[in-house]
Amino acid sequence: MTLIIEPEQGAAVKQRNKNFINGSKKVFIESYGCQMNFSDSEIVASIMEKDGFSITKQYKEADLILINTCSIRENAEQKVRNRLKTYNGLKEKKPETIIGVLGCMAERLKAQLLVEESLVDIVAGPDSYRDLPNLVSEVLDGRKAVNVILSKEETYADIRPVRLSSNGVTSFISIMRGCDNMCTFCVVPFTRGRERSRNPVSIVNEAQDLYNKGYREVTLLGQNVDSYLWYPGGGLKKEFSSLSAEEQKESVNFAQLIERVAKIHPDLRIRFSTSHPKDMTDEVLHTMAKYKNLCNYIHLPIQSGSSSILAKMNRGYSREWYMERIKSIREIIPDCGISADIISGFCSETGIDHKETISLMNMVKYNFAYMFKYSERPKTLAERKYEDDVDEETKSSRLSEIIALQQKHSLELHRQRIGQICEVLIEGVSKRSADALFGRNTQNSVVIFPKGKLKAGNYVHVKITDCTSATLIGEVV
Ligand code: SAH
Ligand code: SF4
Ligand code: F3S
Repeated sequence: MTLIIEPEQGAAVKQRNKNFINGSKKVFIESYGCQMNFSDSEIVASIMEKDGFSITKQYKEADLILINTCSIRENAEQKVRNRLKTYNGLKEKKPETIIGVLGCMAERLKAQLLVEESLVDIVAGPDSYRDLPNLVSEVLDGRKAVNVILSKEETYADIRPVRLSSNGVTSFISIMRGCDNMCTFCVVPFTRGRERSRNPVSIVNEAQDLYNKGYREVTLLGQNVDSYLWYPGGGLKKEFSSLSAEEQKESVNFAQLIERVAKIHPDLRIRFSTSHPKDMTDEVLHTMAKYKNLCNYIHLPIQSGSSSILAKMNRGYSREWYMERIKSIREIIPDCGISADIISGFCSETGIDHKETISLMNMVKYNFAYMFKYSERPKTLAERKYEDDVDEETKSSRLSEIIALQQKHSLELHRQRIGQICEVLIEGVSKRSADALFGRNTQNSVVIFPKGKLKAGNYVHVKITDCTSATLIGEVV
């Protein structure tokens, strides 16, 4: 399993062994990238705790530093490389510190990362976290260690995550891993491997456990939650039609999964991310409409408003299909918050394609959006097949136009809420003022209101009196 390279000798190794034998070994875990990565870090924390590590929030006192990394865009990797420079300084003073790179960048670069970043001792891909204690042992023996093997079954279903930097109210639960979609711009299928769904019983148990501990909101995570399909035995993704009659009977799809989680308790809110326009069914929407605790919020990335660009992205839907999905959401779930991801300047995107993105945004009016400039990623289909031919300046100016329009829409939608009363789950003290609390309404908008005697985890009704494009401001009624 473990690929071992480059023997290392010397004082650092001896010092390491001393620290580890003392039995007070500490691990510092840092996460970059998507929610899935933050959720994985909680699995890693659990595995390391079982191996005798305690978690520290101070990297300077750690014996082991693990950085869970993201490769989605060039600048995501740059951020990690800059961070590694900080650790370089630490390693000069404390050479025995072990540094491990986890996650998508580890998977993408593999052993090459050890060459490019000489201070790194461990490279571990997203499916190899159970092997981390062994990888650490290899380093203690004076070697560098790499495990980037992707799995067809691993879902870490049996591991109880250790909640890191938790507010005690909201939490993530991974329901599936990997992605089989092969959008041409995207590195995820290469870094996370094949799609597989986690056993629904373990998902419901984890949500129930969180509820028992006082949590009041869970977000179910997957790269394409609508294609969640568990069948007896589990393993790689299969289409429902390819299951045997027996398997079909016992299988659980995404609509059935959210219904099971919703039934845990009406006070446990459920969100999920990410929905995929090509796979989102009316069955899911009807289930959402049926249970109040299934939040009225859908993150439905569009990427581009132009059907020809969508085809080139291999997204599996057209502009018209997407708008039909929006229509269904509006019909089945009145007052549903909708957000999206949008990419500007994908290969061959013309001014007309860009205008189609703008016009689609005007038709949908998203509550919120994550907006990016296209960043070419090595080995993706787009990198191999198409030219990254939209110049930087054009990408930037199109992105600015998209961001400005989104801000206008967010503000407009928030203004419509003034005077309304909404139910808010309190998450904590507002960053802006110690006298204010913040939470979210079901549509996922942040709501700020005076503290009073309220506390995190409570539900309150707030009358909206004011707003910005980013937040609603109100008073408890
Ligand atoms: N599985 C999710 C997306 C996960 S990645 C989905 O299909 O919607 C999150 C977002 O990053 C994507 O939706 C996309 O907007 C953006 N993204 C992915 N690859 C990118 C790239 N090469 N350049 C710019 N943005 C990218
Ligand atoms: Fe990437 Fe597409 Fe999979 Fe999302 S659905 S993770 S964008 S390949
Ligand atoms: Fe980044 Fe990997 Fe998530 S590339 S966005 S951390 S799946």
